[in-house]
Amino acid sequence: MNCTYQILLLVLYFYLANNSINILSAPSESKPISYILSCGTSGQDDIDSDGRKWSSDVNFVSPSGNSMTSKALSQESSLPSTVPYMNARIFTSNSSYNFIVPTKTRLWLRLHFYPSRYNNLNSSKAYFSVIGNGFTLLKNFSAFITAKALTQAYIAREFSLPPVETGDLSVAIVPFDGSHAFINGIEVIPMPDDIFQYPATLVGYSDYTVDLHSSSLQTMFRINVGGQFIAPNDDSGGLKRTWFDDSPYLLGAAFGVTSNADKNVRIRYSNDVTEDIAPLEVYSTARTMGPDPNVNRNYNLTWVFRVDPGFIYVVRLHFCEFDFTKVNQRVFDIFVNNQTVQSGADVIAWAGSKGLPVYKDYAIHVEDQSGASDSEIWVALHPNVSANPEHYDAILNGLEVFKVNDTNGTLAGLNPEPSALLVNAEEHEKELSPSRSRLGRLLGGVAGGIFGCAVVAMIFVFVRRKRNDWLLINGDSHASTISGHCRCFALWEIKQGTNNFDESKVIGIGGFGKVYKGTIDYGATKVAIKRSNPNSHQGVKEFHTEIQLLSKLRHQHLVSLIGFCEENGEMILVYDYMANGTLREHLYNTDKPPLPWKKRLEIAIGAAKGLHYLHTGAAKYTIIHRDVKTTNILLDENWVSKVSDFGLSKTGPNLDQTHVHTMVKGSFGYLDPEYYRRQQLTEKSDVYSFGVVLFELLCGRPPLKRNLCREQACLVDWALHCLRKGHVNEIIDPSLMGKVNPWCLEIFAEAAQKCVSDHGSDRPSMGDVLRNLEFCLQLEENTDIQL
Ligand SMILES: *[C@@H]1O[C@H](CO)[C@@H](O)[C@H](O)[C@H]1NC(C)=O
Ligand SMILES: *[C@@H]1O[C@H](CO)[C@@H](O)[C@H](O)[C@H]1NC(C)=O
Ligand SMILES: *[C@@H]1O[C@H](CO)[C@@H](O)[C@H](O)[C@H]1NC(C)=O
Ligand SMILES: *[C@@H]1O[C@H](CO)[C@@H](O)[C@H](O)[C@H]1NC(C)=O
Ligand SMILES: *[C@@H]1O[C@H](CO)[C@@H](O)[C@H](O)[C@H]1NC(C)=O
Ligand SMILES: *[C@@H]1O[C@H](CO)[C@@H](O)[C@H](O)[C@H]1NC(C)=O
Ligand SMILES: *[C@@H]1O[C@H](CO)[C@@H](O)[C@H](O)[C@H]1NC(C)=O
Ligand SMILES: *[C@@H]1O[C@H](CO)[C@@H](O)[C@H](O)[C@H]1NC(C)=O
Repeated sequence: MNCTYQILLLVLYFYLANNSINILSAPSESKPISYILSCGTSGQDDIDSDGRKWSSDVNFVSPSGNSMTSKALSQESSLPSTVPYMNARIFTSNSSYNFIVPTKTRLWLRLHFYPSRYNNLNSSKAYFSVIGNGFTLLKNFSAFITAKALTQAYIAREFSLPPVETGDLSVAIVPFDGSHAFINGIEVIPMPDDIFQYPATLVGYSDYTVDLHSSSLQTMFRINVGGQFIAPNDDSGGLKRTWFDDSPYLLGAAFGVTSNADKNVRIRYSNDVTEDIAPLEVYSTARTMGPDPNVNRNYNLTWVFRVDPGFIYVVRLHFCEFDFTKVNQRVFDIFVNNQTVQSGADVIAWAGSKGLPVYKDYAIHVEDQSGASDSEIWVALHPNVSANPEHYDAILNGLEVFKVNDTNGTLAGLNPEPSALLVNAEEHEKELSPSRSRLGRLLGGVAGGIFGCAVVAMIFVFVRRKRNDWLLINGDSHASTISGHCRCFALWEIKQGTNNFDESKVIGIGGFGKVYKGTIDYGATKVAIKRSNPNSHQGVKEFHTEIQLLSKLRHQHLVSLIGFCEENGEMILVYDYMANGTLREHLYNTDKPPLPWKKRLEIAIGAAKGLHYLHTGAAKYTIIHRDVKTTNILLDENWVSKVSDFGLSKTGPNLDQTHVHTMVKGSFGYLDPEYYRRQQLTEKSDVYSFGVVLFELLCGRPPLKRNLCREQACLVDWALHCLRKGHVNEIIDPSLMGKVNPWCLEIFAEAAQKCVSDHGSDRPSMGDVLRNLEFCLQLEENTDIQL
């Protein structure tokens, strides 16, 4: 064979291996063959939003007469792609998918479900089992219930099956009696050998190991610790895994800091850790405990995962040291479910060098406590002080959790149960639904086609008058179960912590009620306590929305909810205490010293990060805050800004227009004109409000000031007017005059200007705004150096 030919073959091989494209010819040992099928389609291949090619499933189903194809009735805006989710194959009796596969290779099987209405069959009625190569993967599975509990529009499940010796993989779909089954997408991808080659030691049984090679596994979680979401097309080895951000899984208010490998550190694979294990992007970001050794000694960096009880789980931890080069610089202990699984972990000692990744597997049995439909896995890191390392710190770069089949060869858990709060919220929604349409008509009349400050004012008056009706209407039928991280306090604890709601402890008054400074745990922890007006039903919905959202969200720039109390008709929320109060109280109408420009930039960057996280990183869906304003940006004792007040927030699965059109809400002066013109909610409404916040930071004045002449009363109008004429000095906060780098000022003003563009489509994303602000800060810092 000549050389060119060999190179061509090689290129072809890598092309096939890296693109997982679907080839329908017979397999041979040298070519890994993947099947990527969009179920219920025929003929043409489809391309998803990530650029992957999906083929028709029609040649793989048998018997073909037992199923039909259908399109979903409606498309939720949070679906990541119409392919494969908008088409489905519906089964009313037993059927199977059959694939010819290599005989000695483990296989990934990924199943995709979008619970919608298909051919008049409501997917809430679909209960079915899926059996792959003899393993029960799903049993009495309801995609509808599962998606609802997870507040997701769709469900994607990944399984890893041991080699199929016959070379013929059968995936059986078994609808429950009188029910039907549906499936939107199916992927069968040969797995490289090295992913599960070693057995994992079972925690607590030093001589018992779990043989991963012969077991089937379900991927429960796959996260890029301290890093960002990695889409299937950006995964290494062409393996099309999805890696999620870790912040939703962090426990408590102490969650360390994230760090990135320096550009000069080369992160590289080795014989033990190849590109099959994880992308380099996972290894080049990490979460560590933070710079203060005394703080680190006193807390555990902890992640919590909800899992089905009664199974063995393998927790795979990915590490890569990029800050230190020597042994004993960073030594820590690792706990899984409060048991020590590793003492004296030292990543350099394991890997041998900076920039070399390692991973460790720990297997743990999660007990089946009677009655519980779910359980937790805690992974905690703590510095090992007795080793006397140079730094009291710990590091983690990536984490995966896999469920192992039980002795009967099943992986199926129970459907999650909806929480009592969710059920209550739905009851409320039903009671109140008649007022929806009335309100919708009224608002439609007011808002048609006009915009500007005057209309905002009209709507505001209207909103104020109707507020009692409003608050309860915003029914979110996709609200999720309350997370276990959120504490439920007794009323006496709250009374004790606030001197029985002593007026002298009031630090703020909002639409919801009063906010008190208080303590919990017998005075040990300072907190902010938000109490709704007792005996009033106002705000029940907001109260529940806030608990449901915040108990799941963890981010450095979102205020942390510690717990709640719902007793005696009281609705009380308990948050981390923010020593420096709201942003607004440092900007105007205050005797506090004016904030320096750099601090303002840092505060804006923090808030932008919080919002960016809500829009993109928080989960698999978008969260729209809907009430961004300077009183909802809080500052802790280190001036770190945090977004607060999620009472009006909406989550993605509900964002289709039919739900949104009656619910124009928000605050006077911050409302996106396009939102009430078209009554269509998108994350760009938050961008508009954030633009108003940027102008407040720049100008040091409120968004509306009625005592000024008409052209100056509305901050946005006035600022745009002056900027268009190039008169930035007329609007800038006098305390900043001459103290801002002119280039920085220009970029900042331009960013603010773009945010308040009339049309949402002309506004930048929060990610773009964030980049501009960070650039401003860099410019400002460089000025400092020159001075
Ligand atoms: C469908 O498959 C299940 C599981 O394999 C089996 O128990 C059941 O009897 C089958 N039903 C029919 C009608 O064949
Ligand atoms: C499906 O049924 C559920 C509950 O039975 C209901 O809430 C939902 O609106 C129905 N969906 C459609 C599209 O009909
Ligand atoms: C670990 O310990 C903490 C505190 O003692 C407890 O709240 C938590 O439930 C434990 N976690 C597990 C999974 O047992
Ligand atoms: C960290 O977790 C371990 C295991 O649960 C526990 O024994 C220890 O007390 C925790 N340390 C701190 C400081 O919370
Ligand atoms: C620290 O690690 C050593 C092993 O290197 C271990 O013997 C010791 O128990 C660990 N200390 C703690 C507090 O876990
Ligand atoms: C998983 O299933 C296989 C095949 O049924 C079985 O050999 C293995 O023991 C099971 N794994 C566990 C941990 O029970
Ligand atoms: C396996 O199946 C048997 C018989 O159905 C059942 O009694 C047993 O509890 C099952 N084992 C597990 C681990 O679910
Ligand atoms: C199937 O799941 C539903 C919802 O979780 C549950 O109510 C029902 O009892 C289950 N049926 C069986 C036969 O397990």
